[in-house]
Order: sequence, then structure tokens, then C-alpha cells
Amino acid sequence: MTTLTLVSTTRLSSGHLMPLLGFGVYQNYTTRDSVLEAFKAGYRHVDSAQAYRNEAHVGEAVRDSGIPREELFITTKIISKFHGYESTLKGVDESLARFQFDYIDLFLIHDPFAGRERRLATYKALQEAKDAGKCVLTISLLTPDSGVKHLEEIRNAGLPMPSVNQIELHPFCQQRPIVAYCRAHSIVVQAYCPILRGKLDDATIAAIATKYGRDPAQILLRWSLQKGFVPLPKSANPTRIHSNTHLYDFELAEEDVAALDALDEGKDGALSWNPVDAMEFVLLAWLLDPRFVSASTASATPSSMDARSAPIDWVLLPPCEFELEIVSASRNNSIHVILQGSQQLQNCKALRDI
Ligand SMILES: NC(=O)c1ccc[n+]([C@@H]2O[C@H](COP(=O)([O-])OP(=O)(O)OC[C@H]3O[C@@H](n4cnc5c(N)ncnc54)[C@H](OP(=O)(O)O)[C@@H]3O)[C@@H](O)[C@H]2O)c1
Repeated sequence: MTTLTLVSTTRLSSGHLMPLLGFGVYQNYTTRDSVLEAFKAGYRHVDSAQAYRNEAHVGEAVRDSGIPREELFITTKIISKFHGYESTLKGVDESLARFQFDYIDLFLIHDPFAGRERRLATYKALQEAKDAGKCVLTISLLTPDSGVKHLEEIRNAGLPMPSVNQIELHPFCQQRPIVAYCRAHSIVVQAYCPILRGKLDDATIAAIATKYGRDPAQILLRWSLQKGFVPLPKSANPTRIHSNTHLYDFELAEEDVAALDALDEGKDGALSWNPVDAMEFVLLAWLLDPRFVSASTASATPSSMDARSAPIDWVLLPPCEFELEIVSASRNNSIHVILQGSQQLQNCKALRDI
């Protein structure tokens, strides 16, 4: 195995170099300070998104760090609410303005909910932005069921394949069909939720951590790197921001990689949103109670749902105008469902075809 270091990069099919360890900033409420700390720790790759509402803070940290822009690799993402040709071109310019950058290294399509036509229009717009020097691009958020389908959709449309794909990826959710497809098409796979959103109490992981004298997060990140993925751990805690980079003075033996490989639960192991499943949940909810996905989602309560949606217990956190958050109490994991404004019900039906 090639010796890995904190400055290791992978060359993308686009020709660009991407640092193998990325720093996630989802739900980071001190983004500027965390990103500055991450730069001090040695990260050179930051994963943001329009939906995280922290592009400006990432941009500020980049400027305040004094690190030349070209030494950094910065990602953002566009969600389906803004998909479509014109709106994507506008969205790219808006992200550039928020970051105060001349270019973004990686622009992901954050989710597939816009449907085939708008997905491809979004992808074409990102290609144009790339040709204009504004970004490298890819498509993101694919699931075991649909990921290959979305990539095939691009290929069948005669468009250039993306160079990166970002999916939830850790020992419990290894997304093997997508990973195999990406490998076959020279697509680098980024791993989100690589440290299980901090739920690190598994016995196998703990035993391996003890064996190597490491913490569980380091074991998972090392596993991810050794599998050839690009993990994107998030932390807002300065100590953990640093400890999550201490991955390069040990190597997991084959049997320990195999033990972690054996934890795979397929899509049942997913911790984050899984677009296809999430939409199935919404469809189920809608079939059971149309009010659930109407504009009055605020009125939906756990008791209105959980009796009929077993085995999932539904809890709605305060929805904003077009978004609601569903927590599946059965695994205590959050799934984010982005709805489409006044078109929600129609879209829910249409989204059967995502
Ligand atoms: N494309 C997408 O739709 C998508 C979806 C999800 C995530 N992502 C990207 O991937 C990144 C990572 O995913 P994630 O943030 O969901 O989950 P994650 O990185 O697996 O876990 C983050 C959680 O783990 C905790 N943590 C960090 N280091 C730790 C350590 N050493 N020991 C114990 N706990 C630790 C963090 O708390 P503290 O902050 O307190 O340390 C936080 O609660 C995101 O930030 C985002 O950039 C993308």
C-alpha cells in the first residue's frame, strides 16, 4: 500500500488533485474558527454546501488563514430546490460571491430529487461553469438503489462522467455497488458520516481501537483511507479536529480491515439521509396523512404518524418553509427531506421516479 500522509492527494479524472482527508462543516456553528483550526491541523480540503449556510464563513477562514487559495480544495453543493439550468448557473455565481472566491474546486449536486430532466440540466450547467473556470464538478448523494442509475443517466446522456462522487460511507454502510461502479469509471468516492456521527460505541470498533491504542474515530478514518475513500470528518471541537488527523503513523492489518468490512448492514446501516428511502418515508407519510406533507407540516406530530408507520417512529423537528427534518427514533438517526414548496404533493408523486 502506498504510504499515506496528511498531505496525500488523489488525482481526479479531471486532472485536479484532491487532498485525501477532507474537513466536513455540516452543522458546524463556529465554521470560521473550526476551519482555521483545521488548517492549523493540516487539513487542506473543506466540504461545505449551500444548504449548510456557511460558505461565507469558510471563505473568511480561507482568507484569514493566509494559505494561498490554490493550496486549498473547497467543495460546495446545490440542493434540488435550486436545480435546473439557469438556476444552477445563478447558484454557482451566488456561491462564488458568498465564498468571495474566483472558483470552487468541487461543485456537487447535493441530491437527486429534482427528477431526471432537471438533474441533467443542472449537470450541464455545472459543466458550463467548469468550462468557464468556475468549478470542477460531480454529482452527489446516491444510494445503493439509485446511485448507479444516476451515474448511468449521465453516461447515457452522452455527458462526461463526474470525477468524484460523495456518498454516506463507513463500515456499517459500505455502498458496495456504487463503490464498484465508481472504481470501474475512475470516479473517486468521498465518504460522508465517516465517524458515524460520533456514535462510536460498537464493540468491534472498540476492540480494534484498543489493539492499536487509538480512538474509534481514528480507526474508522484509517479504514476509510485504506479502502481508498476520501473521508470528510466533521468536528467543531479543536481537540478532535486535531486528533482526527492523527492517522498516518499506524496501519490496520488485513484482518482488522476485514473485521470492519464485516460490519456492513447495507442501507440499513445508513445514518444520514438516504434520498430514496427518505422519499419513500415521505410518500408513506403522504399516503397515510396528506396533511403531513402539506404546507402545514408544522402541525404534524409524532402521534399522528408513529402508530401507522411502524417500525419507524416519527418525530418532526420544527420545519421551516420548505424543509422538514424527520428523526427515525428506531435508529435515532436524522433523515433530511427537502420538499419542493407549493409543488410538494406533485413532486412527492413524481419523486417515485428518482
Ligand atoms: N452530501 C451530503 O448529503 C452529506 C451528508 C452528510 C454529511 N456530509 C458531509 O460529510 C461531513 C461529515 O459527516 P457528518 O458531519 O454527518 O458526520 P461525521 O463526520 O461522521 O460525525 C460528526 C460527529 O462526530 C463528532 N466527532 C468528531 N470527531 C470525533 C471524535 N474523534 N470522537 C468522537 N466524536 C467525534 C462530532 O462532534 P464534535 O463536532 O463535537 O466533535 C459530530 O457530532 C459533513 O460535515 C458534511 O460536510 C455530506
